[in-house]
Amino acid sequence: MRAALDFPDDIDPTLPGYPDPYTYFHRLREADPVHFSRAMNGWVLTRYHDATEYLRDRRYSRVKLVEDIRANFGDSPIVRLQSGELSFTDAPEHARLKNVMGKLLAPQAVESMRGEIETFVGAILDRLLSRHRMDVISDFAYELPAETICAMLDVPRQDRIRLREYVEGVVLARGVVRTPEMIAAGDRAARELVGYLTELVRERRGRGGNDFLSELLRPGEHDDRHVTDEEAVIMAEQFFTAGHATTRNLIGNAILALLRNPDEMRRLRDDPTLIESAIEETLRYDPPTQAPSPQIALEDVKIGDRTIRKGERVSVLFGATNRDPARFEDPDRFDITRADNEHLGFSFGIHFCVGASLARLEAQIAVGALVARMPELRLASGTLDWRRMGRFRGLVALPAEF
Ligand code: HEM
Repeated sequence: MRAALDFPDDIDPTLPGYPDPYTYFHRLREADPVHFSRAMNGWVLTRYHDATEYLRDRRYSRVKLVEDIRANFGDSPIVRLQSGELSFTDAPEHARLKNVMGKLLAPQAVESMRGEIETFVGAILDRLLSRHRMDVISDFAYELPAETICAMLDVPRQDRIRLREYVEGVVLARGVVRTPEMIAAGDRAARELVGYLTELVRERRGRGGNDFLSELLRPGEHDDRHVTDEEAVIMAEQFFTAGHATTRNLIGNAILALLRNPDEMRRLRDDPTLIESAIEETLRYDPPTQAPSPQIALEDVKIGDRTIRKGERVSVLFGATNRDPARFEDPDRFDITRADNEHLGFSFGIHFCVGASLARLEAQIAVGALVARMPELRLASGTLDWRRMGRFRGLVALPAEF
């Protein structure tokens, strides 16, 4: 018997669109912590401890998930693309690819982008300062992640807009809920994106350069560094699809949390060195990725008092685990000096986000600069719209005055 809950079970908690999913998550964690979501067609975990145990457990598979998707939607371009991504591979193949991508996106490597990111953010703010109003999302946060990644891969300027369109097409088709129409649109975008990146990889393989893509293709001392053209295309694709909306939403969610907590905003303004922990606190308090892709159980597994059957899907609600009172003190408080903060905003275990250092760097620079240069920033609207986009949580717009 499932516990009776006073919210509709057909709510898809990873398509929040709700102003406050967190109240709902608290009730879910208390009433039915290992919950079967009909909307997600799988189990969702809400307790921090269950989530970390699950994320380190090897009795689940992402390859099986892709097989499931292929069985439902056929072997389409978007499914083929997905099946080569880190997120959808299992050990040991996963470890080889992650090692390559991890070196490319290591903290020291992404630190080399600091100057460029600061210049870019500074130029946007220079333009905005002559105004009195802006949308933090479209005027400020939107451009930065795509521009940073284009700069890292040295994508020619004239191609950047159409590349961004392909990326959006692919990302839109990847929600937890996928209709055949969404898949068809995603397939068109995936074909264009792969076509474009294949040309770019061939060109870089031929002439080399100082960018991250050329670095990826440069023969290493060890064989494990060698990647095929196809692998390089999929790695480049992941820079865009995994690193754009997520980083934009992190910047937006951080600014919103600061605007709604003026004491925290003041503390940050008085002590800019708090920016690192302010971004970590946002990743805990309002995570831009609300759930990892599900995995399929390879055998029957017990979690809490539930038995997950072989073949069933399991995922985590990071918004719930990150506010689990058994793990975080005063979890609903946004505290930019929180010290004990091992949140799951970038997940945990083998699928921990490989782009975390880059996302942190971009968000720290962007949010730090905005807070420093616009001391009078305030919310310009009482009601806010959240995007209905797969597993991601971010605002449609964040109107602000200054
Ligand atoms: C605020 C920004 C970001 C957030 C919140 C975020 C969050 C996450 C999360 C939760 C996962 C686990 C997903 C899963 O298991 O299904 C993940 C994985 C991943 N992320 Fe990020 N990410 C961000 C930015 C980036 C950036 C900038 C990149 C690349 C440039 C990136 C690349 C990846 C890749 C390739 C994976 C798969 C890792 C694996 O399966 O081993 N992410 N990210």
